[in-house]
Amino acid sequence: MQSGTNFQSASLQIVADWITNCRNITVLTGAGISAESGVPTFRRGADAARSAAEKDEPTPLWEKYDPTELASPQGFRKHPELVWQWYDWRRCLVEGVEPNAGHLALAQIEKLIAPRPFTLITQNVDRLHHRAGSQNILELHGNIITFRCFDHGHQSSEVPYHLLEPPLCNPPHCSSKLRPNVVWFGEQLDPATLEASMQAARQCDLFIVIGTSALVQPAISLPYVAEGNGAKLVEINIERTPLSDHVDVFLSGKSGSILPSIVDLAKAHGGPL
Ligand code: OAD
Repeated sequence: MQSGTNFQSASLQIVADWITNCRNITVLTGAGISAESGVPTFRRGADAARSAAEKDEPTPLWEKYDPTELASPQGFRKHPELVWQWYDWRRCLVEGVEPNAGHLALAQIEKLIAPRPFTLITQNVDRLHHRAGSQNILELHGNIITFRCFDHGHQSSEVPYHLLEPPLCNPPHCSSKLRPNVVWFGEQLDPATLEASMQAARQCDLFIVIGTSALVQPAISLPYVAEGNGAKLVEINIERTPLSDHVDVFLSGKSGSILPSIVDLAKAHGGPL
């Protein structure tokens, strides 16, 4: 019988071999991959909740704030100043931190397997994957770094920080209030981004899910689409999720440690990488 450590090492090697030999990789990331950069997650599971006080980790956002007040069109209509200031705080927070070893490892995998296709689908709105150098990114939930107007969707650039209320859409557009380019509760995902994500899930032969609680649709249907088309499924998380019983390999731990180990093993393999 293998010890837990040996089992995890064997699993890391298996995933490294799959990366080396696959035709096409799709990755889905969630807030967990940015946690080691200091970006709060949205929610945590029972295990993490028990040990969080000891670890002194930031409180997840949806434990402190009400998503329907802060992350919905009705919340924005009701109190645009509050919503604007909350997103301003989050924009400053994510722009003030750095991509971590997990983000960097994913950018490396994309380079290492080129010209084979690699698609990085993220639920994150922090743009840390872009800053880490990943290229083929699909932002399923948009981002909080760029802006458009609430009424007509006109895009706006160079929006100042620390405003107390939303600025208005610049002339020659209209005078509607600006909002972040994020997908709020009750809103549809961008259809083109969703279709591209579905296609990436259908076409890959290896699908890796990292740092997501696997609770939010339609993102979490993507690994099942990939599985239905014959892809191998890998999950990396500090704790098990509703997806964990369906994956071929579950790697328990922080993505900032696990992903660099996989890259090292894949490089050492000396195969087609
Ligand atoms: P959650 O906050 O729901 O889940 C974070 C997950 O990351 C949990 O499963 C943690 O166990 C895991 N985790 C934490 N630290 C980790 C680490 N260092 N390494 C690996 N895993 C770690 O975040 P999401 O699943 O991304 O939507 O949430 C999905 C969506 O719900 C978000 O995009 C957001 C939210 O409402 C919008 O804002 C539209």
